[in-house]
Amino acid sequence: MTRLSKLSRSITGKIALVTGAASGMGRATAHLFADEEAQVAVLDRNAEGVARVVEEITQAGGTATGWTLDLANAAEIEPTLARIVEHFGGLDILVNNAGIDASARIQSSKYEEVWERCFSVNLTAHQRLIRAALPYLTNSGTGRIVNIASTEAVGGSAFASPYTAAKHGVMGLTRALAVELATQGVTVNCICPGAIHTGLTAAIPDKAKDIFARRRVPLKRYGDPEEVAHATLSLVLPAASYINGATLVVDGGFTIQNNGGALSR
Ligand code: NAI
Repeated sequence: MTRLSKLSRSITGKIALVTGAASGMGRATAHLFADEEAQVAVLDRNAEGVARVVEEITQAGGTATGWTLDLANAAEIEPTLARIVEHFGGLDILVNNAGIDASARIQSSKYEEVWERCFSVNLTAHQRLIRAALPYLTNSGTGRIVNIASTEAVGGSAFASPYTAAKHGVMGLTRALAVELATQGVTVNCICPGAIHTGLTAAIPDKAKDIFARRRVPLKRYGDPEEVAHATLSLVLPAASYINGATLVVDGGFTIQNNGGALSR
């Protein structure tokens, strides 16, 4: 009998593309994957950030190459993916992580503009990259897609409707494709981070972060990007072969806290 306990917990030699890898969770994921001896394509619209992360990884003894691309630029996604695959000789793992914060009051005159930009980066780019990557992921034998959603994919916040709607869309995309691609050797999962210290939350004053965390997060703190990166790694391992269509919430307990119980104490 095949011993399933022998399934590999290593991504050594795997080829991984991480988007939004110049900062925050994408950067932490690129670093962790390289530490685990994967070959990493570091993609971001921020050219300086890309160069910095590639340099950091290389200095640490890892393998990474950089690709500068604004994912809102639809026409460039497929050619860039093709160049990445040509460079590395394949693709095993796609982490759709790049995202922007996008808030707008529903009555705002800027609403349409915010919505368009938010959807193009936070959702549409995900499906475009998946479609471009699919032929290579199916060839991999252990093809893995992880989409970074948000706790806004399982709840909602005022003034965040473009972001919340796009992140709900990321979860829907994940689930539908997990079913559709299951027989093609590719798993599709998503991560819902809660409040994490990254570029996206850098403008929030420390005091406000602290108050939020103490009131709303059972662990009483923001998370670190590395804590999300480890969750992402757990979904791309060859041993994660039966995890498909899952939502892994990484939020310190934010979404499951029973506030009614807290109020009664
Ligand atoms: P971050 O701002 O530190 O990193 C995001 C990266 O994406 C940046 O390097 C940025 O240049 C890149 N990016 C943005 N738009 C791009 C585009 N059009 N083309 C290419 N690259 C682009 O933010 P963070 O927090 O690391 O964000 C990663 C993901 O996590 C995003 O999808 C975000 O929505 C999600 N998220 C973040 C949370 C947080 O508390 N920080 C909570 C829940 C989800």
